[in-house]
Amino acid sequence: MRALVLAGGTGTRLRPLTHTSAKQMVPVANKPVLFYGLESIARAGIIDVGIVVGDTAAEIRAAVGDGSRFGLKVTYIPQHAPLGLAHAVLVARDFLGEEDFLMYLGDNFICGGITGLVEDFQVKRPDAHILLTRVADPGAFGVAELGPDGRVVGLEEKPERPRSDLAMVGVYLFTPAVHEAVRNIQPSRRGELEITHALQRLIDTGRRVDSTLIEDYWKDTGSVVDMLEVNRTVLESAEPRLDGLVDEHSEIIGRVVVEAGSQIRGSRIVGPVVIGADSRITGSYVGPFTSIGERCRLDDCEVEYSVVLPETRITGVRRIAASLIGRNVEVSPASHGPRTHRLVLGDHSTVQIAS
Ligand code: DAU
Repeated sequence: MRALVLAGGTGTRLRPLTHTSAKQMVPVANKPVLFYGLESIARAGIIDVGIVVGDTAAEIRAAVGDGSRFGLKVTYIPQHAPLGLAHAVLVARDFLGEEDFLMYLGDNFICGGITGLVEDFQVKRPDAHILLTRVADPGAFGVAELGPDGRVVGLEEKPERPRSDLAMVGVYLFTPAVHEAVRNIQPSRRGELEITHALQRLIDTGRRVDSTLIEDYWKDTGSVVDMLEVNRTVLESAEPRLDGLVDEHSEIIGRVVVEAGSQIRGSRIVGPVVIGADSRITGSYVGPFTSIGERCRLDDCEVEYSVVLPETRITGVRRIAASLIGRNVEVSPASHGPRTHRLVLGDHSTVQIAS
């Protein structure tokens, strides 16, 4: 069995971060979301992994390499444009050969792993197997309709009027039967070859598509709100560890990880919180569900329920909450009059100011 991980595409809802970085590389508890997927694949006993890459190929290659650090053998499969999930299967045809495969969307986050699912598929071997979960906003996903026996009878991609609240999770299992299906579908309204349509074709040609309803936590990390939620969930089970320096004027409460080389001085850190290596936090408050990246500097500020990427400096501001702050960003008070906001923001930034 092989795995196909989709790490191409563009991340419009995570702009401006995705102007300079792949959305699958945005960190959750200081680790790229893609790595959690690769770890689950390795735990499920799959070794040969094809990673579909687009414009951000160089960044993904630099981070994942040959995959050996995950116990995987990684092959990169270039996709010249993000023409759809089924298009990714088309371009991976040679890599996939005649083997069954697991397809994993690189921006999806699943708690609880996929090992049981892979084992079950290998025993039952339907033509395809999908994962479903109940959501409040099915119109934002692929939506499945089940027959009385629990078989999948219909699938629609981001329907205006969803026929159920069962959203397709970004993990799919396929036999080579899917190759005929992806070759015989047309681009959708949004101009993509949809995997949903390929699955529908399997059903229409009498193939068996099974499904499992997952109760476990699942998120597509495509938006800021979802990123912060996934970060919160992962931090909730972080193992507390203080490898950096915490001075006697600081207070550490709850689940807090302070990585080696970091210094916490005169600060109050209320977990769950993770502080990356070589960061310095002085005279500040870092509140629950916050990840601070490596080599950051926080002076005289307050941050909670936020994700801060490496090498960012925050000085003299309070209180930052529910925020996703990029790499190498500088946040500081304005020095040009008391009621002035001075902003230098990248394209597609979002700022909400409390005044
Ligand atoms: O997250 C679950 C949803 O994922 C499903 O419910 C939908 O049925 C499915 O179509 C997909 O919808 P999204 O709109 O969220 O897909 P997105 O464009 O974000 O792509 C998912 C991942 O696949 C992401 O890591 C980028 C990568 N990708 C995407 C496309 C379109 C590629 O590598 N190549 C592509 O051509």
